[in-house]
Amino acid sequence: MVKVLKRELIVPNIHLLVLETEFIHKNAKAGEFVVVRADDYGERIPLNLIDWDKGSASTVFMEVGTSTRKLACLKDGDEIADLAGPLGRPTEMIQGQNVLCIGGCYGIGALYPVIRTFKKNQNRVITTIEARSAFLLYWQDKLKEFSDELHQITRDGTNGIKGHIDGFINDYVSKNKVDMIYVQGCTYLTFLSSQTTKPLGIKTIVGLSPIMIDATGMCGVCRVVIDGKTKFACVDGPEFDGHQVDWENLLTRRHTYIEHERKSLSFYECEIYG
Ligand code: FES
Repeated sequence: MVKVLKRELIVPNIHLLVLETEFIHKNAKAGEFVVVRADDYGERIPLNLIDWDKGSASTVFMEVGTSTRKLACLKDGDEIADLAGPLGRPTEMIQGQNVLCIGGCYGIGALYPVIRTFKKNQNRVITTIEARSAFLLYWQDKLKEFSDELHQITRDGTNGIKGHIDGFINDYVSKNKVDMIYVQGCTYLTFLSSQTTKPLGIKTIVGLSPIMIDATGMCGVCRVVIDGKTKFACVDGPEFDGHQVDWENLLTRRHTYIEHERKSLSFYECEIYG
């Protein structure tokens, strides 16, 4: 069992989860993830590794289905069944480059360890966070600490620039030198960013979040098509060149279990709330 040191709602549907562990920090690097299981009946879910120290590991997750609902109900001092990690390949490090880092939803949290490491490696870090509305943006102060610039985009214009990421990228790169773009967030954000940067010829690295089971390269559930070849996001990723991702395949596979997830959540809610 693993002790929950902290579970906190950051903004609606997005939670911080800090777990007690003495081993994650020994090998943790930016861009890696952990797998957690809320209870003995819970599925294994991959979550971005956000922060770590000698006694803890932190993740940020979005409450979407039964398993994340279970995590969202945890209180400080509770226990979960399992924690495994760090897993996946770390973010490929670059040095002395102008890197535009984009995050949305849980991806805002996922940016944190990566921009911290980019900054440590003498890159110029331009952080950009986006959401539907201002109340869904978070961690501006934490991100500012490791950013040369911090931009905020809201689709309704309630904070920062009004619009979506495609307009921002086109506008920003027309006025500034950008060597690389790094994106963390939902599949639509990573897809849209990659589609926008492809004609601009700017290298774009995206963090993918396909469904996973074992997260050790054995079950094949997390397979994605990269440059025409099958790769496993858990061991070959989760970060890939966004211009090489077969987005149609990924989006289709992401939708396979939506109906089952919806049913599972309503059964769970009936069980809990009657
Ligand atoms: Fe099973 Fe990646 S989760 S191969």
